[in-house]
Amino acid sequence: MKPHELTAVRDVDVCQNPDELAARAVKLITQAAHEAIEDRGQFTLTLSGGSTPMETYLLLAHFDRSTPVVWPHTCVFFSDERLVPPDDPRSNFGMAQKSLLDRVKIPPSQIFPVPTEAPSAAEAAARYAETMVEFFSPSDRTHPPRFDLILLGMGEDGHTASLLPHTDALAEEKLWATWTPPDNATPRVERITMTYLVLNAARQVVFLVTGAKKAVALWDVLEGCARREDRPAAGIRPTDGRVTWIVDQEAARLLTKK
Ligand code: 6PG
Repeated sequence: MKPHELTAVRDVDVCQNPDELAARAVKLITQAAHEAIEDRGQFTLTLSGGSTPMETYLLLAHFDRSTPVVWPHTCVFFSDERLVPPDDPRSNFGMAQKSLLDRVKIPPSQIFPVPTEAPSAAEAAARYAETMVEFFSPSDRTHPPRFDLILLGMGEDGHTASLLPHTDALAEEKLWATWTPPDNATPRVERITMTYLVLNAARQVVFLVTGAKKAVALWDVLEGCARREDRPAAGIRPTDGRVTWIVDQEAARLLTKK
């Protein structure tokens, strides 16, 4: 059985244009929010970084005006962060704040940015893991937190969050957050990232992937035999959750199973 066939419940939605992609993502996120709030009283959402999600965040904020408000019951974390201040243009938190969080009625106490003021990436990662422990207060730390929905992107090399190819972060089997050195990614800064432990414990993972430059990596991950060491997005296989890939036609051009 080829690795990609081992992936559990997985859907691939090919969208005609960025507006359709954002609308599809907003629909999945709001559906997950309503289900989580109805079943458990709150919605735990992890936001992705990079540039692709911005249109989805803006539409989520706009959409909020016309639907039952879910934001007072939503808690927001981040899949990864660059070790820069929030007002730095490279900050994932800064992008989410401008395009979404400053535009919806979410209590600031329910937003959990990575503490990039920490003296080092390793310390920021350790503090972020503690933030998750305090929030989810698990009876024992061997069970990673189970987010209702985790948004992820994918780089041209197949990285996701800040799980970069051929880095130690990929082998992390105990910590819930770790860090990666600056030399493997653009922008070249140290990064803090949730580990596979947390990402694969999610109820739902939604990837947003656009652009022709990602077509080879996307084919490799979805239909090839990509190893997670080479294409870290291939390692996202929630043990008891679903993965939805929302992609545009350019990124999907090599896929045979659409
Ligand atoms: C980051 C992101 C990263 C991103 C991909 C895709 O901090 O860079 O978390 O994993 O999702 O690199 O980025 P784009 O959406 O900008 O193509």
